[in-house]
Amino acid sequence: MSGVSARAASSTPRPALSHPRWRRAPRLTATSSVAERGCEGVFAKPVEVVRIGGTYRSPVPDAVPPARPHLKFTDDGRRMREVLSYSRRGNRFTPAQQEAWDAHHEKWVIPDEAVDHPDFSLAAWFGREAPLVVEIGSGIGEATAVLAAQRPEVDVLAFEVWRPGVAHTLGLLAEAGAENVRLISVDAVWSMEHLIAPGSLDELWTFFPDPWPKSKHHKRRLVTPSFAALASSRLRPGGSWRLATDWAHYAEQMQEVLDAEPTLSGGVVERWADRPVTKFERKGLAVDRVITDLRYTR
Ligand SMILES: C[S@@+](CC[C@H](N)C(=O)[O-])C[C@H]1O[C@@H](n2cnc3c(N)ncnc32)[C@H](O)[C@@H]1O
Repeated sequence: MSGVSARAASSTPRPALSHPRWRRAPRLTATSSVAERGCEGVFAKPVEVVRIGGTYRSPVPDAVPPARPHLKFTDDGRRMREVLSYSRRGNRFTPAQQEAWDAHHEKWVIPDEAVDHPDFSLAAWFGREAPLVVEIGSGIGEATAVLAAQRPEVDVLAFEVWRPGVAHTLGLLAEAGAENVRLISVDAVWSMEHLIAPGSLDELWTFFPDPWPKSKHHKRRLVTPSFAALASSRLRPGGSWRLATDWAHYAEQMQEVLDAEPTLSGGVVERWADRPVTKFERKGLAVDRVITDLRYTR
């Protein structure tokens, strides 16, 4: 029996991470079969997972999506090394962040473990069906809160793995009265593949993604040919990907990669007037870097 069908045969939903059954669940390894891993590479669709509404669901009642980053293990039980577009930073909250977290996380934060559930549904977490915008790397939420509050008719799903940034964002969302945002701290690359259905995004925002300036780290940059193909596949026809960066080399890479993606058209544009100046833009401007905005449409 393959890994997927073995999991599918189980009659109870996948337990929370802390549950002892999780530790007994089959671990995905570098040598796991495609069926066990559930997908092969960024282009492939997850096995036995279909689009229902705006999200993926399994047609097999208890099948689970492939393991998220940080949850894949080698045969001898070590955590598998993965090339990710972020590094782990301190997770300590300031008193203001703690206050914002305590007051608002239940309303606006989707817990990581929720995405493992076979019935995960974005519509359920937003409490409605609405055009979907994804922001990758929302940082402390300066752009998220302003842009979402200006667009109450859309749902904004903001990916940010840095918890203090998420907590800070909660305070800004409360101030702005932006009810239409949900924050999630799961890797956005994995999530775009496994949680966002093809053709379901109105817009994708990537403002000041980590530049990874050293050449040996360029492979960690978010905007790569494989991610561009994935991101484009998630946009609806006519949907846009808006990007901004203060790193000239990364701007060139973005343009080169996105120009080469056959399903996208666009290029460098005037600064998006709606986009608020964020901490990273301020930092770039303070050292005289040129800010480049790009917009590509599917
Ligand atoms: C340089 S900051 C920019 C933050 C914000 N957009 C701004 O303009 O101030 C990039 C952020 O992206 C987050 N990030 C990078 N890769 C990510 C991923 N794959 N999934 C979720 N968040 C990610 C990092 O944690 C970091 O906070």
